[in-house]
Amino acid sequence: MNKSPERTPLFSSPEDVRAFAASLSSHALGRTLIFHAEVGSTNDAALRGDDDCATYGPVVVADAQTAGRGRRGRRWLTPPNSALTFSFSRPARFYPPQKRAWAALAVGLAVAEAAGNVASAPLRLKWPNDIVQPSPAPPLFLRKLGGVLCEATATRFLFGVGLNVNQTAAELPTETKIPAASLRTIAGKPFARRLLLANILARIESRLNDLDESTGISRLRLELDADFSALWKNKVLFFRRPPEQQDLNHEALTGRFAGLDEWGRLLIRRTADAPPVAAWSDAELLRVEMETDAAAPAAPRS
Ligand code: BTN
Repeated sequence: MNKSPERTPLFSSPEDVRAFAASLSSHALGRTLIFHAEVGSTNDAALRGDDDCATYGPVVVADAQTAGRGRRGRRWLTPPNSALTFSFSRPARFYPPQKRAWAALAVGLAVAEAAGNVASAPLRLKWPNDIVQPSPAPPLFLRKLGGVLCEATATRFLFGVGLNVNQTAAELPTETKIPAASLRTIAGKPFARRLLLANILARIESRLNDLDESTGISRLRLELDADFSALWKNKVLFFRRPPEQQDLNHEALTGRFAGLDEWGRLLIRRTADAPPVAAWSDAELLRVEMETDAAAPAAPRS
């Protein structure tokens, strides 16, 4: 087994876990922390615990997952002791349907902010749930470092976070739609995963507590509209609707980012003077092109 410093386990004993949890600057999130050297999926493990927490359930962290899940039924694979994979839940009453996409966006944004700070890297959130580094390379001008997988049960709303940290280029998946990266591949050095985890948990708690407030959605909407507009400035986006959203118009859509609706869904403007269309709650970004003139091309229909 690789024993280099960047491949040491996150925790070496139950006392180690307790000391870390006690040292966190977050008030509730992570104060109860459950560590697995290996588990199927931290999302499943986080649902096994007690059902009656007031605000934040325990954070379940694993150094290896044998059945890690990504969005749209994909697998989430990371070599042992190299990434951050963790989950936690909150009571379902915090997240009525209109708030769920915003909650996922808030957590993704928090991860991008905290990891970007630690690594001094320009990490961004890409709608709806990807933590990315802008890159000069087509077809997407992005590299993906992580993602958020939210799941709801009758009583809990669950957040699962995966972030590539110390994987080398050779260890990253190659079959992904967005080319993969890790903090190590973009910064050229490995990172202490504990420090990252502590910073990420504090930022997530702060973002989710903000969203709990009555003006939380409108403030996050303004912020993300500005962030995403900057990310896609002068870009034409080519999206495809995911197969599970059969009830909506537009199989595919080409145009410019035009904001998020009140549910956190994507709006696209097909031509400069057209109203925004497509309230997609998920969509696959196929390609990005640099804008060539004022009007975006008409949407392909296949
Ligand atoms: C995505 O598809 O981008 C979301 C990936 C989410 C992966 C994380 S890893 C921790 C948690 N446990 C899982 O099985 N999945 C999430």
